[in-house]
Amino acid sequence: MKPKVLLTHPLLKEAMDYLAEQTELELATSQDFLPHSELVQKIVDKEGLLCFLSDTIDQEVLDHAPALRAISNCAVGINNIDLKLARSRGIIVTNTPNILTEPTADLTMALILATTRRIVEADEFCRQGRFQGWRIDLFLGQGLQGKTLGIIGCGQIGQAVARRAQAFGLKIIYYNRHRLSPDREAALKADYRQLDTLLAEADIVSIHASLNPDSDHLITGDKLALMKRSAVLINVARGAIVDEKALAKALKTGQIWAAGLDVYEHEPQIEPDLLSLKNVVLLPHIGSATYETRLQMSLMAVNNLLEALAGKTPANLVKDS
Ligand code: GLV
Repeated sequence: MKPKVLLTHPLLKEAMDYLAEQTELELATSQDFLPHSELVQKIVDKEGLLCFLSDTIDQEVLDHAPALRAISNCAVGINNIDLKLARSRGIIVTNTPNILTEPTADLTMALILATTRRIVEADEFCRQGRFQGWRIDLFLGQGLQGKTLGIIGCGQIGQAVARRAQAFGLKIIYYNRHRLSPDREAALKADYRQLDTLLAEADIVSIHASLNPDSDHLITGDKLALMKRSAVLINVARGAIVDEKALAKALKTGQIWAAGLDVYEHEPQIEPDLLSLKNVVLLPHIGSATYETRLQMSLMAVNNLLEALAGKTPANLVKDS
């Protein structure tokens, strides 16, 4: 008999068709948003769950899932799942690591360039028919050569950003829970700093940490106040690492120069004050959104789930957070 599986939102078609062939599949919704109450109702008889970072898999969901054996998260971050509780109930949890490192690092560079060179403002200016000819002072931004990039969270994605940043002539400093080995630091040409020192020294601060109790609101108003007035903050990790209200205030008052965000504290809601500011570039959580990567993520998430349901140890079992 095929295992009963709940898929919270559509996957890319190739992967969804394969999952439908191999399991008794229910697609919870084809909308962007799945109410938590519906998820709780639909999980009741399922052995497998394939979900996304926008689904909160908390005690209420797990309490309604007596048959659940495996949760496959189609994301690298697993902060949306109560991992401890799932484990204590013998439920296997998997994620999709490694494959989204490079596209997320690419998007980080896109945000660094978009903010420092004011790309979105300039595009809007052209579309409004306001380009009247070359001018020496039109959309002056900031160059990257010789500036300092401060990477917060120097795991795979942070390191992929460091490799790219070298090519732009950026000096690299980083803060991480665990300091990298001397060999790795040398390969990345990255120097370790304490968080406050990094914030004070960097021209661009880029966040690549995972969200956990230690990194929740790591960047408060007080921390933003340590940054240079000319500094730029980039966040492609998780919104809750930054106090979004404090960030909006810092951007509004010119305490920092600009920000580039792909993630939000209360996603998909965006702090309303940010929406009216010109010195912030806002993206709808598209760090890994290339066709190739999203297909790989979809297939990986399906394979992880099928392996777990077949009683095998899945390739991408989440061990420790
Ligand atoms: C994206 O944010 C992910 O965690 O996969």
